[in-house]
Amino acid sequence: MTTAKVELPPKLIPVFSGPARYRGAHGGRGSAKTRSFALMTAVKAYQAAAEGRSGVILCGREFVNSLDDSSLPEIKAAIEATDWLAPWFDIGEKFVRTKGLPGRIDYRFAGLRHNVGSLKSKARIIVAWIDEAEDVSETAWRKLIPTVREDGSEIWVTWNPEKPDSPTHNRFIKAPPDNSKIVQINYTDNPWFPDVLDEERLNDLARLDPNTYAHIWEGAHLINSDAQVFAGKWRVDDFEINPSWDGPYQGGDFGFSQDPTAAVRCYIDGDRLYVSHEAFAKQLALDGTAAFVEEKIPGYAEYVSRWDSASPGSIELISRHGMPRATATDKWQGSIEDGIRYLRSFREIVVHTRCKGIKDEMRLYSYKVDRLSGDILPTIVDAHNHGIDALRYAVSPMIRQGFHYGMLGVVE
Ligand SMILES: Nc1ncnc2c1ncn2[C@@H]1O[C@H](COP(=O)(O)OP(=O)(O)O)[C@@H](O)[C@H]1O
Ligand SMILES: [Mg+2]
Repeated sequence: MTTAKVELPPKLIPVFSGPARYRGAHGGRGSAKTRSFALMTAVKAYQAAAEGRSGVILCGREFVNSLDDSSLPEIKAAIEATDWLAPWFDIGEKFVRTKGLPGRIDYRFAGLRHNVGSLKSKARIIVAWIDEAEDVSETAWRKLIPTVREDGSEIWVTWNPEKPDSPTHNRFIKAPPDNSKIVQINYTDNPWFPDVLDEERLNDLARLDPNTYAHIWEGAHLINSDAQVFAGKWRVDDFEINPSWDGPYQGGDFGFSQDPTAAVRCYIDGDRLYVSHEAFAKQLALDGTAAFVEEKIPGYAEYVSRWDSASPGSIELISRHGMPRATATDKWQGSIEDGIRYLRSFREIVVHTRCKGIKDEMRLYSYKVDRLSGDILPTIVDAHNHGIDALRYAVSPMIRQGFHYGMLGVVE
């Protein structure tokens, strides 16, 4: 007899008790949403296969470029950490499925934006779990929901709310379906909230404006985006690089102690800036920098890259260890402000979905906010800017010229 014990944060117990078509949790970072739902998909897979059913657990996000971006690692970790579940699963590098039971459940991982159409009709989806669902578009919800139509099938949703008018908010908070069990949950509800995350939380509490902090850690909507340096200027997409674009332009910023080394590649298309690749790593040895960056940004060493001129010795070292075209960027009085003004002068900055570090920085890089009045101050908080510094270095030759084609109204 197997002892089927599952440990969940107390707040999630009602979510998984009794029948429901929709189950969900929204809230801030570190609240055990991902981990708990990952675990429950495995429990569901086990139960279904034990009852002799066959089908699919679909784990979706809006964008999935590779299995590393998917929920696969979380599913593996949840199964491996649960002694009674582990023997009933076959876990490969790229797949997870049940084994040794009368039925069989396979996991599938999909990006809703591009893959959900291909699942239609074929897959017998028992549970569709959408993690990080804030970004899911109305179109994706409309495509997904009708494909989950097995008897007793369920849709599970986890997310950190950002916009009060997002499709996910409208569907699951504003007007939740009758047969849904959805709760709010935060790190204070996570019995296993780890110290490393608490350190990050305390750092954010000290450095970020209160609205941004409340969004990240308390699951509040991001109401005041005015303090964000790039507010309204950027979006995320999984674009293909067009050979007609200018570039690539590449930059790099060296990490010190806790700060990461950051390298980026971008392209310019008239008045649009496309950030296509990034490489972020903490405590990276200088002689290992070229190899690491090359792995994340293929072909990096073949093109010029501009690095923080405050570290000439470091540039010399990386140029001797695999990055011969690394050079120092210019810095001048006001170069940070000029660089930001230049970046903001693009009609938009499009960040590739694979660039998670830049995406976070675009959101978090902020002006100081006065603690008492809430006024936005002209000084920028010196945090969440490693990739953005690298981006400024990448485009520094154009900053010095002070224009780009879009600003001049020239169309080639
Ligand atoms: N069941 C669990 N057992 C052990 N640790 C857990 C468990 N659930 C969550 N944690 C810890 O809490 C952290 C945050 O959980 P996670 O599910 O990633 O939160 P969220 O998705 O809400 O940001 C995990 O990285 C892990 O350290
Ligand atoms: Mg999560």
